[in-house]
Amino acid sequence: VIPLWLDCDTGHDDAYALLLCTHDPRVQLLGVTTVHGNAPLDQTTFNTRAILEALGKRDVKVYPGAAKPIVREVVHATDIHGESGLDGVTLLPQPIEPAVMDVDFLEAMYKALIATPPNTAWLVSTGTLTNIGLVFQKYPDLAEHLKGVSIMGGAVGGGFTNAPMGKVKGEGERFGNWTAYAEFNIYCDPEAAHSIFTNPILIPKTTLIPLDLSHQVLGTKEVRHSLLFGSSRPLDPSTANTDQTPSPLRALFTQIMSFFAGTYAEVFALTEGPPLHDPLAVAAATHPDIFDDRGGERFRVEIVTEGVHSVNQSNVGELGRTKVTKLLAGEGGCRIPRGLDIAKFWEMNEICLKRADEV
Ligand code: BDR
Ligand code: CA
Repeated sequence: VIPLWLDCDTGHDDAYALLLCTHDPRVQLLGVTTVHGNAPLDQTTFNTRAILEALGKRDVKVYPGAAKPIVREVVHATDIHGESGLDGVTLLPQPIEPAVMDVDFLEAMYKALIATPPNTAWLVSTGTLTNIGLVFQKYPDLAEHLKGVSIMGGAVGGGFTNAPMGKVKGEGERFGNWTAYAEFNIYCDPEAAHSIFTNPILIPKTTLIPLDLSHQVLGTKEVRHSLLFGSSRPLDPSTANTDQTPSPLRALFTQIMSFFAGTYAEVFALTEGPPLHDPLAVAAATHPDIFDDRGGERFRVEIVTEGVHSVNQSNVGELGRTKVTKLLAGEGGCRIPRGLDIAKFWEMNEICLKRADEV
């Protein structure tokens, strides 16, 4: 069993990360911290508690973390997730269990992780990187103790090749989903991200799941149909037997995916289905076998921390860009999988949904 701590800013795709953290038999979820990001901290905390309630896991402790980046102003992804961070989701239950407010969240994270056997536990980040940056600043010995840190973030090119969002001068394509260069989680707190990719102990333990990888796993119509009616493989909606009532949980997760599909179609003209970014950061820690690391390729990641931080995304230059260089064997660097077995990923998702339904 893999001890795991999740740090999230629950919007639509973070909900799927919570599903994998709570119902994968391989995972022992130690706790959850929330962070500013898709929506303000209060809201991402509420959303996290509500999703855990829906998953039958209200006993998992939720600690609200940082409400703003280490040095910059806060930015939210309203265009993608709506004002609430989980817009369009009417089937969300009211959370019963309150968030834990009387304990320092960094201390809670540290104590839970340091109590695990050395080199076993994972810290998974599916939101902005503020809490992650802060925990290693306050407790530097944690880096040595962990097995790994898995981060959904960054844009290394390719993800938006087909999106009509203009071309980056001289590069021929748009890299980021927030600015031309930057992915949202990294853009929001580039200093926090920088502190991780410059930490010599953390670098070899870090896995990055950038947009070009997450754009390989789309919530297509077939995927949404299997989610609703239960099947480990995407079904063909035109031939499948739909003569059954979906469970409340399946209906909820289908609704989450459908709203996300709507915003991706509208904002990025991606009509096939929304990329399911966040659960991949969980899966990369818990099911490394389904990812393609091309024989153990390693990369240097540099975060651009110069530039204007802006909510309206104009004139921001390369702020938040993840510059990635492939390294030679023996040169160190972090892991950035270049592909994955998509069918196996959905199978895993289905196993978790089935188990969640049984709770
Ligand atoms: C990331 O940004 C957020 O909007 C998503 O939840 C995901 O973590 C994708 O860039
Ligand atoms: Ca997220």
